Amino acid sequence: ALVVRHRMRSSGRWARVAAVIKELEDQCATPIAKLRHVADAMAVEMHAGLASDGGSKLKMLISYVDNLPTGDETGLYYALDLGGTNFRVLRVQLGGKEGRVVKQEFEEVSIPPHLMVGGSDELFDFIASALAKFVASEGEEFRLPVGRRRELGFTFSFPVRQTSVSSGTLVKWTKGFSIDATVGEDVVAELTRAMERQGLDMRVSALINDTIGTLAGGRYHNNDVVAAVILGTGTNAAYVEHANAIPKWNGLLPKSGEMVINMEWGNFGSSHLPLTDYDRALDSASLNPGEQIYEKLISGMYLGEILRRVLLRLAKETALFGDTVPPKLEVPFILRTPVMSAMHHDKSPDLKVVGSKLNEILGIPNTCLRTRKVIIQICDIIAKRGARLGAAGIVGILKKIGRDGIGKNGNEISRTVIAMDGGTYEHYTTFSETLQCTLKEILGEESSASIVVKMANDGSGIGAALLAASHSQYREAN
Ligand code: GLC
Repeated sequence: ALVVRHRMRSSGRWARVAAVIKELEDQCATPIAKLRHVADAMAVEMHAGLASDGGSKLKMLISYVDNLPTGDETGLYYALDLGGTNFRVLRVQLGGKEGRVVKQEFEEVSIPPHLMVGGSDELFDFIASALAKFVASEGEEFRLPVGRRRELGFTFSFPVRQTSVSSGTLVKWTKGFSIDATVGEDVVAELTRAMERQGLDMRVSALINDTIGTLAGGRYHNNDVVAAVILGTGTNAAYVEHANAIPKWNGLLPKSGEMVINMEWGNFGSSHLPLTDYDRALDSASLNPGEQIYEKLISGMYLGEILRRVLLRLAKETALFGDTVPPKLEVPFILRTPVMSAMHHDKSPDLKVVGSKLNEILGIPNTCLRTRKVIIQICDIIAKRGARLGAAGIVGILKKIGRDGIGKNGNEISRTVIAMDGGTYEHYTTFSETLQCTLKEILGEESSASIVVKMANDGSGIGAALLAASHSQYREAN
């Protein structure tokens, strides 16, 4: 009789587990009709953000980049890429149409977490000192012509209101950075002062977002690239807009007739987004409550954290991990998205990767197969919602630029390539596969045939060097 009672108790528990998952699944559902609404809303907000500053949650920031690389860029340029948990410094020797990227070297440095929430000077000093070391260690083969200053493309992957192609003020921090003193400041001036403090003589000739760098790097290799998307720690997109379709732009119309726009789509909001209580709680506990809602559903900084919150609820309400709640499960952001992805892709029959991650990361030993299967189910729901919403965002852009269908006037439209970068897309296979399939699903087999999402590895670093070259003060001399 005891055994039976125990069995009943445990089957009651699994029923409760199943109910929580069912609820999650329902709330995260992204049927095709909903995704179409999201895509339409994205296109509508794009119009509104271009019409006036503050016209939409989408800032649609003007990048001042009105020409993308041609391939003719030559010379030695530097790039600095700050935007996530790591930053990178690069030097790139550009060889023009023949040579393209002749040589490049880079170094990656991880940013100590306390610098992400400390003082502005501390952060910029840290960056400038890494850059100074990088320059000091330079080999003979990288030489500037005599009398020429080093020039840098600064990829700063946060919302910046540009005042020119090489200056701009920080609108707000995102992705776990929070340094009040930098907000409203010109980040190029901040960096330049820090470089001077290091005794480093370098001119910032382009200030760009990572999406813009990816777009530039993508276009350098492929003429059909019209937009760039980042799916990494954060998420964002940039694309080439007609300059005369930007009512809020009151400068001169660029000769090219084009202007690259940094959408800052991470801040997209819409009543069509499927939000759960987990998302709302994550948002209110975040450094930027009420902001970057789309980013919080999609990007790598948050997917693992959503999973943790679901598991915590299961631990508390259904004793999924036994009678006590594993203390580590209470620690925000302890479950990183790469771990989630590793568990999600576990193909072993006993799900031993899931088991060992739970043990290693969360201190939960000896989980049974049934529990492990539950984890995979939850990963699947969260990752697929994010990927499908990302696909809907891309369709929104395609609609805005009129490339979401086959020749509306009967003419065939050209190939459309979207340059993609970011670790979430690159390493989380189920995520990227889902995104690709969903694009097809929304657009239809025929229309989607001419649309390609292409991984543009490190477009953003090369892109920054290319834009530094095309905005060099020595350009006429090239
Ligand atoms: C965040 C930033 C944005 C950046 C994106 C990807 O959304 O606000 O500027 O492009 O992350 O790194």
